[in-house]
Amino acid sequence: MLIHSASQLICLRGGPQRGLALGTLDIIENGAVLIRGDTIHAVGSTQELLQRYPREETLDARQQVVMPGFVDPHTHLIWAGDRALEFNMRLEGKSYMEIMEAGGGIASTVKTTRLASDADLLNAAAERARAMLLHGTTTLEAKTGYALDIAGEQRLLEIIMHLRNILPQDVIPTYLAAHAIAPEFAGNPAGYTRLLVEEALPQLKKWWQQRFPLEPLPFVDVFCEPAVFDLANTRAILSTAHDLGFPLKVHADEFENIGGASLAAKLKATSADHLVKTKSEDIKALVAGNTVAVALPCTPFGLAENAYTPAQHIIAQNGLLALASDLNPGTAWCGNMQFVIALACRFMKLTPAQAIAAATINAAAAIRMQDKVGSLEPGKQADLLILKIPDYRHLGYRFGENLVDTVIKKGKVIHFHE
Ligand code: NIG
Ligand code: FE
Repeated sequence: MLIHSASQLICLRGGPQRGLALGTLDIIENGAVLIRGDTIHAVGSTQELLQRYPREETLDARQQVVMPGFVDPHTHLIWAGDRALEFNMRLEGKSYMEIMEAGGGIASTVKTTRLASDADLLNAAAERARAMLLHGTTTLEAKTGYALDIAGEQRLLEIIMHLRNILPQDVIPTYLAAHAIAPEFAGNPAGYTRLLVEEALPQLKKWWQQRFPLEPLPFVDVFCEPAVFDLANTRAILSTAHDLGFPLKVHADEFENIGGASLAAKLKATSADHLVKTKSEDIKALVAGNTVAVALPCTPFGLAENAYTPAQHIIAQNGLLALASDLNPGTAWCGNMQFVIALACRFMKLTPAQAIAAATINAAAAIRMQDKVGSLEPGKQADLLILKIPDYRHLGYRFGENLVDTVIKKGKVIHFHE
């Protein structure tokens, strides 16, 4: 299939974009892209490709923007229930951490998730992923973290892996048993940490290699905050996971900076996420560790807070910046990367070009998928969007309305109204 007459074909060739290189969109005006099977075969001008490949089936992009599908490298896709009451409590002045320490927050979603059936969890997650697809997300990461016991966290991983069979998207799994202190260990974070280090992680590795022998190990992630996993406990979990061969992620500096980002970078984590309270020396560590800085602007927005990830400092220090939704029932029930881009432009002062690169090729790097997705270049998976806009700057500029016209995943045009 040859897609032609794109007003702008946003290619983003050449790999993840560090520092001031962020936002190199690599645009072909009046562009075209040739897809064979599930793979991109060629990109070029409409004139050139129509001439070179005259017998292909064609799809007219009608002078709209064509770009790679969005990659969302941080979601808590699998949960049951909601926390609408907590939203009201926060509006009345309670903080997220106060609610958490009083037994609400993540613990409340753990209760509902433990009680939900596999089928209910699967269906709810699939529905959210479907909405994400409709808004242009063609690859996503999905975390466990609402079971907080060994069998339950493995059940959530099973569900994530099962989603791969029923969703068009690529789904990348992350094990987040260190999302909160399990209720059975209330007041005893060291005890829960010991369980994770001594039992859960070694068992996870064995189980995974038997259950999914052909799949790389999932990411291991930790929510590093003083009231959740302090630096010592975070270090114990991440370094054990590292020694077992798991790739790493961390939730760091969301509310308080206790050194989680620097620690993760020293362990060569693939990404460090949130990074609101992050300082210059942490950014240096991230650069040295080749760790992707993932900003989640829906989270401060969702919490009605004013501080966002210091993107300009990350860029100025030559960091690798990505964007993600953080889709979750507590802080940010939003899986729409177009809205993430709109927030990043306003509150992190990214240009639309920078935000687009952060939500595609750099987001792919945050889940080790940069060789497969995130750009339009020969050999890559044919994951594309046709947007209802004449110029890419409408992304970010416009918000609150879905700008996606057509989604193509692995070379297949997805029709939403059948
Ligand atoms: O990334 N920070 C920890 N985890 C989520 C919130 C999850 C929840 O509140 O359920 C986050 O913001
Ligand atoms: Fe998160």
